[in-house]
Amino acid sequence: MSTFQAPKGTYDLIPPDSAAYLAVREAISAPLKRAGYGYIETPGFEAVELFSRGVGESTDIVSKEMYTLTTKGGTTLALRPEGTASVLRAALQNNLHKLGNLPVKLWYSGSYYRYERPQAGRYRHFSQVGAEAIGTEDPVLDAELIILAVDAYKALGLKNFRVLLNSLGDKECRPVYRAALQQFLAGLDLDEDTVRRAEINPLRVLDDKRDAVQKQLTGAPMLRDYLCEACKEYHEQVRELLTAAGVAYEDDPKLVRGLDYYTRTTFEFVHGGLGSQSAVGGGGRYDGLSEMIGGPALPSVGWALGVDRTVLALKAEGVELELPATTDVFAVPLGEEARRTLFGTVTELRRAGIATDFAFGGKGLKNAMKSANRADARFAIVAGERDLAEGVVQLKDMRSGEQTAVALDALVATLQEKLA
Ligand code: HAM
Repeated sequence: MSTFQAPKGTYDLIPPDSAAYLAVREAISAPLKRAGYGYIETPGFEAVELFSRGVGESTDIVSKEMYTLTTKGGTTLALRPEGTASVLRAALQNNLHKLGNLPVKLWYSGSYYRYERPQAGRYRHFSQVGAEAIGTEDPVLDAELIILAVDAYKALGLKNFRVLLNSLGDKECRPVYRAALQQFLAGLDLDEDTVRRAEINPLRVLDDKRDAVQKQLTGAPMLRDYLCEACKEYHEQVRELLTAAGVAYEDDPKLVRGLDYYTRTTFEFVHGGLGSQSAVGGGGRYDGLSEMIGGPALPSVGWALGVDRTVLALKAEGVELELPATTDVFAVPLGEEARRTLFGTVTELRRAGIATDFAFGGKGLKNAMKSANRADARFAIVAGERDLAEGVVQLKDMRSGEQTAVALDALVATLQEKLA
């Protein structure tokens, strides 16, 4: 062991488990690519104000969990705690919204950082795949995104996840509700922190996990009773579109989410096998975010799915992903001359698309075959100088143990046929 350990709340992704993470990222992004979302990559850090204005001063993410730093030049930056504000910033900066084709549909995949109390499923460095559709207000777009996430989970073989759905209203109806809720909260016996939260963002008090608080919230005014006609109609359309697509969802009038930019449609994907960190993904509409960060009005919607938690959910369900074989063929040279010649064959096999590895370091036959077994290779090719002089290699089927001589110039075709 070295002197150093991975920092608290982080972990290393190492083979063979790391293959599942790649497969999850791939499975989540595949439906997005098929639906016209283009790949975007933004820096790992941004101006602190982008998140404090966008995600919201009152949120835990900004007030407690942001990793901030001051550069030698005196600029304050934050490691990105989420992707939406960055992606919108990049779209605005690069004028993607002016290219004429709205919505601008983007997907991303990367690392995010939150200084949270680490526990199972909650890390300080984690990974998300996300999607944002910028510049269009259309319930079909909200439905599209939810359907794409559900399809991704299904493609992975995940079953026990649920879709929670809510509407948070818009700039017309939410302030009216907010005032009503604040008035209700003012009559409760709440601790100092919660009273402060009720002043800044009363909706987040509804999300309080403590029983004592939840008990007092019985009879609190609910946003759905305050939605304006336009929001009601919009939400109804999203619900109908989801039903038509065969997506089962649950109306959750208390779903608030931990970021302040949401308007109208909000949703969360939760999984029962994860303990308290049950959200495997979440998102919603953020019609006002662009203006909050200095852009024009660009109603938008998006989501991010947590890769770490999706992997945990798959494990909890015992889903075995179909991962591509890392090694189809393992090459074992016998002797110095054979080592050089057979390495040429390995390169040829790899260029033909066959996953091939090699017994490096001049291992003896016994050790080399152990390595072939450990690599879980389907075939081994063994060749000594005499074989190579005759233009053949010995091809061993690692399952049956059967061994045959195959001409070197027929090896690629033979293996391609056997592996097909
Ligand atoms: P979020 O709900 O904060 O939303 O994060 C999305 C997902 O990231 C969560 O459901 C969870 O799976 C994963 N996640 C968040 N924090 C952690 C953590 N500390 N450890 C492990 N996994 C974590 C957003 O980030 C929004 N930007 C989503 C969005 C996109 N809304 C609109 N567009």
